[in-house]
Amino acid sequence: MVEERRLMPRLVGADEAGEVARLLHDFNVEFDTPSPGVEFLTGRLRELLAGELTIAILAGLPAKAVALVTLRPNVWYPGPVALLDELYVAPELRGQGIGSAIINLLLRFAAEQGVSLIEINVDDGDVDAQRFYERHGFSDTGPGSDEGASYWFRELR
Ligand SMILES: CC(C)(COP(=O)(O)OP(=O)(O)OC[C@H]1O[C@@H](n2cnc3c(N)ncnc32)[C@H](O)[C@@H]1OP(=O)(O)O)[C@@H](O)C(=O)NCCC(=O)NCCS
Repeated sequence: MVEERRLMPRLVGADEAGEVARLLHDFNVEFDTPSPGVEFLTGRLRELLAGELTIAILAGLPAKAVALVTLRPNVWYPGPVALLDELYVAPELRGQGIGSAIINLLLRFAAEQGVSLIEINVDDGDVDAQRFYERHGFSDTGPGSDEGASYWFRELR
């Protein structure tokens, strides 16, 4: 349980694009992933968060945790499918329930919006994050299947 009010997660709009960008940049830096930088990300997020298909959640003032979610239609489901693109809690605040509070807010938002499915890509070796998602009812087998599913991709330039 997040006890401190100032750490309660909230849905945010384009006006907080800079805070979202700062945390996404920190996420990449911590995990040695290239980042285009806070300024570039801020501009991109300002555009995306002005639309209805990208949703951001922040926790903390100043923000210490972020989730970024995108929505898309899918032929097999009546409601949108949500992809949890990013979830990050600043290292010094992990293990205190902030990530769980963000997932709970996401689940409430998804229920209100009629979302049918939430997807997440988790690295094979990230057993801590896997345990976290399992605890929140997610699974690495496809819906209606007991076979493990993995994420394949091909980047197009
Ligand atoms: C995964 C993450 C978002 C969870 O947020 P959190 O606020 O630490 O989570 P909570 O306090 O609500 O729950 C704690 C659980 O998170 C999981 N966890 C994952 N990484 C962790 C970390 N570095 N420190 C503490 N807990 C972590 C554990 O399952 C832990 O439960 P445990 O008691 O069984 O160990 C956060 O730890 C994080 O940002 N990790 C680094 C980035 C990352 O892995 N993001 C997910 C990418 S798919």
